This record gives sequence, structure tokens and C-alpha cells, in this order.
Amino acid sequence: MGGSDSINRREFLRKSTVAAAGAALLSSTAAASARVVGANDRVHMATIGCGGMGHAHLGALASLRAQGLVDIVSVCDVWDKRVQSAVAATGAKGVRDYRRVLDDPDVDAVSIATPDHWHAPMAIAALDAGKDVYCEKPMTYWKDLSAARAVVDAVARNHRVLQVGTQGMSDSIWEQVGERIKAGAVGQLVHAQASDMRNGPLGVYEPASNDPDAKPGINLNWNMWLGPAPRRPYDHGRFFAFRSFWDYSGGICTDFFPHTLTPLIRTMGLTFPRRASASGGLYQLRDGREVPDIFNLTLEYPGGPSVLLIAAVACSQGIPMLIRGHQAAVTFDGPGATIRPEPAVVGNQPTEEVTRERAGSLEAHFEDFIDCVRTRKKPRSHELLGYYVMTALHMGVRSYLENRVFEFDAQTERVRAV
Ligand SMILES: NC(=O)c1ccc[n+]([C@@H]2O[C@H](COP(=O)([O-])OP(=O)(O)OC[C@H]3O[C@@H](n4cnc5c(N)ncnc54)[C@H](O)[C@@H]3O)[C@@H](O)[C@H]2O)c1
Repeated sequence: MGGSDSINRREFLRKSTVAAAGAALLSSTAAASARVVGANDRVHMATIGCGGMGHAHLGALASLRAQGLVDIVSVCDVWDKRVQSAVAATGAKGVRDYRRVLDDPDVDAVSIATPDHWHAPMAIAALDAGKDVYCEKPMTYWKDLSAARAVVDAVARNHRVLQVGTQGMSDSIWEQVGERIKAGAVGQLVHAQASDMRNGPLGVYEPASNDPDAKPGINLNWNMWLGPAPRRPYDHGRFFAFRSFWDYSGGICTDFFPHTLTPLIRTMGLTFPRRASASGGLYQLRDGREVPDIFNLTLEYPGGPSVLLIAAVACSQGIPMLIRGHQAAVTFDGPGATIRPEPAVVGNQPTEEVTRERAGSLEAHFEDFIDCVRTRKKPRSHELLGYYVMTALHMGVRSYLENRVFEFDAQTERVRAV
């Protein structure tokens, strides 16, 4: 399958330049060929990348299909074994080349669950083909921040909907606490913190992971897996544990932080960070991976707050999520959140309990996406939030790797080392 079917880096770059230059033309063609989805129509979905998360997408979509909200038209992967299991799970058409999914006028929307280096190229191509997009986090590959801006532009020029796959964003607590913060319940925002700490074997990070059924050139299109990434011979560690290699992932920084930073910036009403610095290291899990097993990221937002995020795969005890204002702090626990006033500033005031109205889940997040496809509203984890998050994570990974502090100029949308 390899050679003629592959997309090499030069071809990809040429195509993206053509796509950017001919955006208006492409979008008008796309719009003309796209089906208009009515408010009560089933949305015709396809999933690209049917590994661990892609199968989770298909599980959520099967449940929405049972409710009459979607049809699953096709499932796509570069490894036959995954195409076959996705076809068996859904009864949908199996496809090996994602471009055939994008060519299909019967597909209204795609979910993308490939490794990170494919997210932006596929999302932009899908948007330009007139499809709405549910794109897994991180919205884009960490190294190229211009890709995040390109996704925002592609959504706008094609009048499409894009949901980033941070399913926790469908928890209503972020909107509820966000309203209280906007109303002044915590005063000036000063600090926030969150962590995502794991320990023990996590298959997706182990370069020793293998399945002997993966046979490049026979049942697996390795060149198509690499896509815009540097050319390399097949390596099962990279195929099964892409998160451990900088060419495809920013490691635990870009893998874990979208789930904590997106809700934090949504709740606090933040946009681009002003400054980022990171630290950490590979202390324990020296098994061939390139990425650290502990990562600390400090962000400063214009006028406040500072945000501290910690991620780990070598220890599991974290710090609680907390938003601190000058007048009160918010913790997230039990049935929702608690707002605790600062007696030294506001005197003895009662604590306020905020009870969540809707729990977050993958199914709820897809349901929000489908609702937005039908109504053309912005989803809960839209592309601009994705751009704000990727700006922080791009600077974070670079700070860790280059041992420098980075600043972002929101006027020019440029990053510079301090
Ligand atoms: N939201 C969440 O909680 C969550 C959880 C896990 C993973 N994810 C995200 O999902 C994405 C995939 O992670 P995973 O653990 O499922 O990885 P995975 O390796 O299990 O699956 C990725 C699949 O994409 C396929 N693929 C690669 N290039 C392709 C191409 N050009 N065309 C079609 N298919 C292609 C691979 O063959 C593989 O089957 C990552 O970006 C990850 O961050 C999100």
C-alpha cells in the first residue's frame, strides 16, 4: 500500500499553500457540494483514525445513532486491522485514504482521532471540503503555532463548526462558575492551578508496545501515517506510542493540559497568555521515550491571573483544581464547585455552593457538536479556545526544550523568547 498512496512532506506543504491561496475558490466549491443539514436531520458522520480514541468516538456516535441524531457513513484508518474492527463495530463503509472521506458528498461532518501531527492538515482539508469537524485535542501539533491560526481561519472562511475533543468542556460547571466570576464573585483573578498526574504502565506511552499484526507495506500504510512528519522507516514504538516522540506529540504537556487549561481559561474568561515558562524532566521512565515524565507549566495572563499546571506519568498525587481571586477562591469538588470568601478582604461571608447542572462526557460533547452542526452555533470547545490553549502549550514545550521563557504578543500573534 505504501508508495503511490502516500502524501510526502513536500506534497503536503504544496497542498497547504494551494489551499491557503485558493481558499475562496475551494470554499465556494465546497459549499456548493455540501449537503445542508436541517435542524431535525441526522448528521452523516465519518471517523478518521480508528485507534483507541477513534473507537471511543464510534461508541459515542453509535449511541447518538440509536437516538436518531447521526448516521455513521464511513470509518477510515491506515491500518487494515483497525478499519476492520471499526466496520465490525458500526456497519459503516471502511476507507483507507482520508481524502476519499472528504470527497464523499454524503459525509456532513468528520471526527478526527489520528495522532496530533495530522490534526491541522486533516481539519483544514475537511473544512475546505465543506465538512464540519470534531477534532481531537490537542487541536494542532505543538511545534507549529501558525497551524492553530490556520484552523481558526479555515473555520471562518468556510462558515463551518469545529469542536475540539476536550469532552470535559461539556460539564456545565465551567459555564456556571464562569457566570459567577463574571459577576464579581471572586474579585480580581490572581492565581489558578490544576494537575493531571498518572502512574503505572500507560500503554500509549510505552515505546515497547507492539502488535505483530501491524505489517507496514502489507496491511499498514506507514507513509500515510507519517504524513507531514519527517520520513522514517517503520518503527512499532512510534506507531503504537506516538505520544512519546516530539515529531508527533508534545508529550504530557499537549496530551494532558488541554483537558485542564481549556476549562480554566473558559471559566476565567481568559484568551492568550502573555508569558510562559516550563520545567520538568525524564526522571523515571527511561525506556526510549523522548518526552518528560513530569512537566510543570507556568502561564501569566495579561493583568492576571498566573496559572500553574502540572502533568506526570511517573507519580499520581496531584494538586486540586483551584481558582483564586482577591476576594474568594473556587474549588471544584463533589457535586460542583465551592466559592470560599477571603475573610481578610470581605469579612465573614458564607461559602457558596454551585451544583452542576450537566455532567461532561464524550457523548454529551458529541451531542453538543451535533446540535451546533444543525443550528450553526459555536460549540463549547470551539477553535478559538483551541488557539488560546495551543498558544500556551506551544510556548510551554518550547520553554522546556529550549530552556527559555517565551512571551506572546496578542497584537501581532507572535511568540518570542525573552
Ligand atoms: N479526548 C480524550 O480524552 C482523548 C483520549 C485519548 C486520545 N485522544 C486523542 O486522540 C488522538 C489519537 O489518540 P489514540 O490514543 O487513539 O491513538 P492511536 O494510535 O490508538 O490511534 C490513532 C489512529 O490513527 C490512525 N492514523 C494515523 N494516520 C492516519 C491517516 N493519515 N489516516 C487515517 N488514519 C490514520 C492510526 O493508524 C491509528 O489507528 C490523539 O490526538 C490523542 O490526543 C484524546
